[in-house]
Parts: sequence; C-alpha cells; structure tokens
Amino acid sequence: MRRLRSSATIRRMVRETALSVDDFIYPLFVRAGEGLKTPIASMTDCYHLSPDRIADEAQEVASLGIPAVLLFGLPAKKDERGSEAWAEDGSVQLATRAIKERVPDLLVVTDVCLCEYTSTGHCGVIKDGKVDNDATLELLARMALSHAQAGADIVAPSDMMDGRVRAIRQVLEHNGFDHVAIMSYAAKFASSFYGPFRDAAESAPAFGDRRGYQMDPANAREAMREIELDIQEGADIVMVKPALSFLDVIYRARQRFDCPIAAYNVSGEYMMLNTAADAGLLDRDAAMMEVLTSIKRAGADIILTYFAKSAAKRLRQSP
Ligand code: PBG
Repeated sequence: MRRLRSSATIRRMVRETALSVDDFIYPLFVRAGEGLKTPIASMTDCYHLSPDRIADEAQEVASLGIPAVLLFGLPAKKDERGSEAWAEDGSVQLATRAIKERVPDLLVVTDVCLCEYTSTGHCGVIKDGKVDNDATLELLARMALSHAQAGADIVAPSDMMDGRVRAIRQVLEHNGFDHVAIMSYAAKFASSFYGPFRDAAESAPAFGDRRGYQMDPANAREAMREIELDIQEGADIVMVKPALSFLDVIYRARQRFDCPIAAYNVSGEYMMLNTAADAGLLDRDAAMMEVLTSIKRAGADIILTYFAKSAAKRLRQSP
C-alpha cells in the first residue's frame, strides 16, 4: 500500500476526498445597534457585528471565495413571543439588506428560530410550562417571510418544531417568494456541544432544556425519519447537527437521500479544537483540515463552520 503514499504528488493524485471552499457556509452574529464589532469571549475569532458593520465582513468572506454566510440575530429586546424576530428593522433583516446591497452574489442564509429572541430562551412559545409546537409555527413562518422580504436567499429553520418546513414553504409561496430555498436543520440533536454558541447568541434556556424538541443523540434511525419528513414538507437542503459526534448519521443520510446534505461543525467542536491548540496539544490548522475533511468524507456536501475563513485561506495555499 505504501507505493501510493510515497510522495505528495502521488498522494494528491489518489486522494478520495477533496475539500473545497465551495463547501463552506460561514456563520455570523448580528447584534442590534450601531458601530459594533465586539469579540465574542466564548468563541475564538468570532464577533458580534451590528448591521452597519456586516457588509465589510461579508465582502471579506466573499473575497475568500466562500459562497454563503449564515446570519444569527441578537435583538435589542427580548419578549415572550420573540417579536423582534420578524421585525422589518430587526438585526438580521437590516444585515441581510446591507449584505445584498454590497455583495449581491454572496448567498445570505438566515437562521429561523426564536431562542435568541424569547425571554425564556426557548425555541418556541411556552404554554403550560412547555414549548407549544403549533402556536410556534405561525411565528416561525412570519420570521422566515420577513427574512425573505429583506432579500435572504435561503432560510434555515433550526427550532425543531414539527411541521415548520411546511408552514414556512406555504407562507413563502403565498407571498411570491417561491425562489427562496429552505435549508432545514432536519436532524438536530440535543447536544452539549452548543455551549459556546449559547453564550455568543445569549440563547441559553432560562429553565429546563431542549430535549423535548431536539433529538436524542442516541437515535440514528429516527434521524432518517426526521430528514424524510422535512424533504416531504419541501426542504431543499437537509442538515445534520452537530457534525463530529454524528458522522454516522451524515453517512446514513447520504446513502439514503439525494438532496444536498449539510452538516454543522458546531461551536463546541470549534472551541474544543481551538483550546487544545492554544494549550499546545495539537496543530490547529492541521486538525481543522482533518476534521473538515472527515465531515466531507462522511457525505456532507455543505459544511457550516466557524473555520470557513481559515480553511479557505489554507486551501488557497495548498489545494
Ligand atoms: C438555535 C441554534 C443553536 C445553534 C444553532 N442554532 C443552539 C441551540 O439549539 O441551542 C448551535 C450552533 C453552534 O453551537 O455552533 N436554535
């Protein structure tokens, strides 16, 4: 076997999996306000940016060849229903308009979920101490519509309510946004790897946890049912999240479904590697490329990752 490993050139020739900048979506955090670019304490090299500062960042992302950004919003005020989520002048709506004006070819994907906007920190509205599925659908649809109106190319529901893909598809069609695609967080697990993100997005639940709506990490067959339902409801792209402890789920999804599959290399995965590198335990860039390649090898077409910019630069040096 070593004959085909004997030089960089021959290794390059027989390499089975090629990571490309085209695979990446770069997540950004938009905070209501002006003139803000504040480092996020829990996430290395990530910032809270106000809508007026977002276009510069978007331009840099586009100049690296990354095809898309994913926008998460932090509102000025939270309330029980999360009503800033569908405000015309909400942080994501303003940021979307600003990006589309400056870099129209960069795809804007928007996160559709209420947890950053609700005072309870839950992904839906609460009734009798629980997240009410059907009452939440209408709010999510409203939120997705306001993103489409601002110019979003793709809306990405991450709330894990049942039936939300259908509800969003319907409201988009009824309002003339049939061209807006849906990337659903179809198999999103109740994971402990979202910790740094919840600090960054200020979206930790005030009580309880998300296990009543996000999936049990033990269930891979159920993940296939979730994905199948979302495709039936009209999802164009389906996502598995997190990526690293669910590579088998990505693989199974790839065997079974023919639509594009996305995988989210989440905040805890990102910081696990960064902190290990900071401690001098591993080479950050090499570990980053290995991890991203493993996600692609498992079968993901699209990788959502905070490493997108670093990996794009690295790919330029040695594709
Ligand atoms: C919101 C949402 C979360 C993430 C993406 N969208 C957190 C959660 O469900 O608690 C996590 C992303 C990451 O950890 O990088 N529903």
